[in-house]
Amino acid sequence: MSKPVILTGLRANGEFHLGNYLGAILPMLQLQQRFAGEYRLNMFVPDLHSFTTPVEHAKLYLQIVQNLKMYVAAGLDLANDDTYIYRQSFVAAHSELAVILNNFTYYGELSRMTQFKEKGEQTKETSVTAGLFDYPVLMAADILLYGAEWVPVGEDQRQHIELARDIALRLNHRFGDDLLVVPAEWSQQLAFVGSGGGIRIRSLRNPDQKMSKSIDDPAGTILLSDSPEAAAKKIMGATTDSVGAIHYDMEKQPGIGNLLQILALLIGEPVAEVAGKWSGKTGYGDLKTAVASEVKVLLSGLHKRLDAVNEVELMRKLEASEYLMRDVAGQRLYKIQQAVGLRP
Ligand code: TRP
Repeated sequence: MSKPVILTGLRANGEFHLGNYLGAILPMLQLQQRFAGEYRLNMFVPDLHSFTTPVEHAKLYLQIVQNLKMYVAAGLDLANDDTYIYRQSFVAAHSELAVILNNFTYYGELSRMTQFKEKGEQTKETSVTAGLFDYPVLMAADILLYGAEWVPVGEDQRQHIELARDIALRLNHRFGDDLLVVPAEWSQQLAFVGSGGGIRIRSLRNPDQKMSKSIDDPAGTILLSDSPEAAAKKIMGATTDSVGAIHYDMEKQPGIGNLLQILALLIGEPVAEVAGKWSGKTGYGDLKTAVASEVKVLLSGLHKRLDAVNEVELMRKLEASEYLMRDVAGQRLYKIQQAVGLRP
């Protein structure tokens, strides 16, 4: 258990779309390929975070299992001994630590979180819950319980990582420097995973917005459950522009740029290289055909492998990790409980 820890969250609720696959699932697989051996990889499902966005409660449990199966179908190696896959709500220490950390986090800090401000803005008419306001504290607990220095996340999570650092530094200052491992600074986090992350796949119909399931945009969003043919049709119908020639310019030609990014990620080449090959060509249809054919290959492969995922093996891995993590997290929680005066 002495290897340094990389900790990252696996999306829990909601059906996966192509943007999730290229922006979250693929990077996760690359992490495993690059770092297993030297690092311990905590890939956990932040299931308690599911309620901060609208969720179908009756389907949540099965959706989480389904999403995990999709990771396996995409190539996540369950047999890897350095990889731990666990559900947050199955390790009670996450919730317990969050309650303690709440008392070392300030109202002002949480009100400044951009994600809270934005989501709060959108849902103002209905209601903003305490859960949404407080979720960065739970996230800090997710990280600090395991002594994780490395937490690869997208730019939208930067403030949350910084908050986790601030909370760790604050507790260490109060109770002694060896209480918590302070996660690395943002610039170091970026250097650790290397640049190239942070690509956002756009809607095929409204390339100014990111691909999303929550906005009503079925033709702009390819679900991983779409049939290969239906997905190919969506690519062929993608919104482009009237420039008439292909250039990789996300400002002026976001639709074309989006297609080039999708193509590059699917064939595993740098986008600059792919863009170079297509640059100046006038056949938008040819580009779409090339993308559509790669998307078809991806989906038919995924569907086949999804059917073949061994669910018994998956559940065994989950439960074994959860069993172990209760111990790892429980030990850290105990130290913190001692520090704050709850344990002798
Ligand atoms: N908040 C993250 C997201 O929306 C998910 C998450 C929760 C997470 N806890 C975490 C990511 C801890 C990394 C570490 O993407």
